[in-house]
Amino acid sequence: MKTKIFYYSYSGVTRELALTLKAKLSSGTDDLVDVVEIKPKKAYNSLTAYSVGIKRARCGDCDPIEEINADVSDCEVFLLGMPVWAARPAPPINTLISDITGGAGKPAVIFSTMKGSGGTETLDAAEKLLSEKGVKVAGKFALTEKESRIDEKIEEIAAAARAAVQ
Ligand SMILES: Cc1cc2nc3c(=O)[nH]c(=O)nc-3n(C[C@H](O)[C@H](O)[C@H](O)COP(=O)(O)O)c2cc1C
Repeated sequence: MKTKIFYYSYSGVTRELALTLKAKLSSGTDDLVDVVEIKPKKAYNSLTAYSVGIKRARCGDCDPIEEINADVSDCEVFLLGMPVWAARPAPPINTLISDITGGAGKPAVIFSTMKGSGGTETLDAAEKLLSEKGVKVAGKFALTEKESRIDEKIEEIAAAARAAVQ
């Protein structure tokens, strides 16, 4: 199966999870798993993330992002990982969802990482945007930073992606 894993990561937690998922989904198969990092054109820093970023996340704003291939028409499933910002997707994720093409009817597995709360609201918001593009969310996983490093938790996400194409 061809799979794409999109993610945005400000401080590295979601990146680590996305890369572990790539390793799991590619292990023992010839399946092609592409990882696509979403980068805002203007990177956040510790000052702007907690001032500008939080406000933009609450409003559901889209940050301009570096160009990526957001076409999923050749994927059987795609995954989307995001940090929780004020119980919402970080703003670069809103842009990615808006830019996705070929998503109608495709299954997606979405996951968020957080300190402790807001993961469910974040994933609900992302699911709503994805469903407006016809994407079918086949799994939603809200993990704390600690859980994002626990193998069984990561395996649950990988299993949902495998199951979505069966
Ligand atoms: C601007 C900002 C807002 C955040 N808001 C929340 C929040 O509402 N709830 C929470 O549990 N963690 C929150 N966090 C913590 C991150 O969600 C958490 O550290 C996440 O795992 C970071 O992922 P990353 O390293 O991939 O960026 C916030 C972090 C930042 C920078």
